[in-house]
Amino acid sequence: TIESDMPLLEGVDVNVPSTLEAAREAAKSCTRCPLYLLGTQTVFGVGARRARWMVIGEAPGQEEDRKGEPFVGRAGQLLNSMLEALGMRRNEVYIANILKCRPPNNRDPKPEEVACCEGYLARQIELVAPQIILCVGRIAAQNLLKTQTPIGKLRGQRFSYGPQQVPVVVTYHPAYLLRTPAEKRRTWQDLLFARRVFEDAQA
Ligand code: URA
Repeated sequence: TIESDMPLLEGVDVNVPSTLEAAREAAKSCTRCPLYLLGTQTVFGVGARRARWMVIGEAPGQEEDRKGEPFVGRAGQLLNSMLEALGMRRNEVYIANILKCRPPNNRDPKPEEVACCEGYLARQIELVAPQIILCVGRIAAQNLLKTQTPIGKLRGQRFSYGPQQVPVVVTYHPAYLLRTPAEKRRTWQDLLFARRVFEDAQA
């Protein structure tokens, strides 16, 4: 009967998008915080829908707001090089930010903005289901890991995120590296550490 064939969706949250496309559409029409009023468009995420590596940054800047894609400015070019150094192409990872809308003048995200936006990121992580998350920069790391620990103390460690216990590794933000190239050496150590964590997760 139609009744017995019908899948029951009890327990499924009515407003939780079940695909990345649906989550992207939900973010596009989001009015949970005022940032949607200020920018050009939302910057949801880019990359392989089932990527094994996920990179999480802070928030869109001017270029990203214009193009609708994360990490397309100068910092993005350096991020591409960081990924290439690990033998990965940008299009085989998934890249997203803590905030989907650009904060005015690239100021730091406010805690309430992060709180309004974090459901989108949580859903992205669930749907992409990466095997490792690389947080670039203090803002990404502190907000994802819910800590106030300075980034210098977060790098070099393996954390985990969510019920799936996705391994998380922290490194410096490429925009910071553009200003402080001397930290590229430590960043390279972090990237090698991340690769080890990823490989251990496979084993
Ligand atoms: N910086 C970020 O953290 N994210 C971007 O998308 C661009 C610059």
